[in-house]
Amino acid sequence: MTGFTYRNGVLCADSVSLSVLADQIGTPFYVYSETRLRENYAAFYEPLKDLNPLIAYAVKANPNLAVLRVLAACGAGADATGAGEIERAAEAGIDPRKIIFSGVGKTREEIAAALKLGVLQFNCESLPEIEALSAVAQSLNLVAPIALRVNPNIAARTHYKLATGEMGVKFGIDAVQLPDAMALIRRLPALAFKGFQVHVGTHLFDYGNFRDSYAKLAEMVRFWRGEGFSIERLDLGGGVGIPYDGQTQAPFAEYAAIVHETVGDLGCELAFEPGRRLVGDAGVLVSRVVYDKRGASKRFLILDAGMNDLIRPAMYEARHGILPVKESAAEAEAADVVGPICETSDLFGEAYLLPGVDQGDLVAIQQGGAYASAMSSNYNGRALVPEILVSEDTFRIVRRRISVREQMGWEEA
Ligand code: LLP
Repeated sequence: MTGFTYRNGVLCADSVSLSVLADQIGTPFYVYSETRLRENYAAFYEPLKDLNPLIAYAVKANPNLAVLRVLAACGAGADATGAGEIERAAEAGIDPRKIIFSGVGKTREEIAAALKLGVLQFNCESLPEIEALSAVAQSLNLVAPIALRVNPNIAARTHYKLATGEMGVKFGIDAVQLPDAMALIRRLPALAFKGFQVHVGTHLFDYGNFRDSYAKLAEMVRFWRGEGFSIERLDLGGGVGIPYDGQTQAPFAEYAAIVHETVGDLGCELAFEPGRRLVGDAGVLVSRVVYDKRGASKRFLILDAGMNDLIRPAMYEARHGILPVKESAAEAEAADVVGPICETSDLFGEAYLLPGVDQGDLVAIQQGGAYASAMSSNYNGRALVPEILVSEDTFRIVRRRISVREQMGWEEA
């Protein structure tokens, strides 16, 4: 039994009961299913494997070392934003030659460290960054493998805070400036041009966005080959969405077909940078109901997990599924499911229908594997949530709870 399913009336991660975990660990906590992680990797890899893809997992989605180790063992590389994520990926045993260094603000120190480590490529996003990469590589007597992240000016159909491929956002080199960037690469020393990257947004449900951007990429490859550039690699970014609460999504095979159709015949190595698609549904946040507050106009289920633990609902109006840990045949009763934080936006579900959940009961907030623990904070004097990795019928605490007492030790007073 893999992922999150009910067994004998109790929600389990693989075959470990979340209720037993809650008793042993205390709430709230994140729990990840190792088998689900492996399944997700295989589901992404298999339909693309004839293209011999590099699946460079977007570390930012969930940088826990244990999660990274599971994906590394599957064969994943890493897409890293910043030296810290490179350090984590390397620590988890990911070969530097499978690490892609992304990000709009790489410092010279970060560039130097990544060059010395020997990462696969630097995805550059601006003209001054190209200059910095060349200068640092030259000073170290090294050659930097460079790719350009292109902003293809495509309006991704997703939440506006998650769109990254339109003119006017900070990401990528605007397509109209590509000739300047290519001329610079030709002119500057210590650079080895590898190819292009696009990433037009995250949580894309509409695969049409990929078709449009990959088709533009293919056009660029043909054009720049004509100008004498050898282009050996294309990085197709991340962004594949997953169903959140009550959503349905076209099968992944459609995405894979678009890849084959648009860039499959260019003779380029292909890299992908999926984050959410690999880890999103492989985790849940388990929390206990502290109070069942029946206000004059509304019922609130007040949880012991808050927006500091899972900020996506507050930040992107994201709607994660919420499940009772104890299966119930009772009629569902609506409640606003909220956290304890002093913010009105600390709201996980509005008028959410939950059967048989009372004060003291446990709930699991779904799709808690991506951008969940990774974006958590200690706001409102909170401990940092523990993370558990379940594998079949065993579990491991892969990050312990970081108490407020311990956090105070970080400060000088
Ligand atoms: N590659 C690049 C260059 C990216 O910027 C991102 C995500 C990815 C890959 C991975 O995208 P994915 O496959 O996970 O969609 N905090 C937001 C998501 C921000 C994603 C930022 N970049 C959220 O909670 O939805």
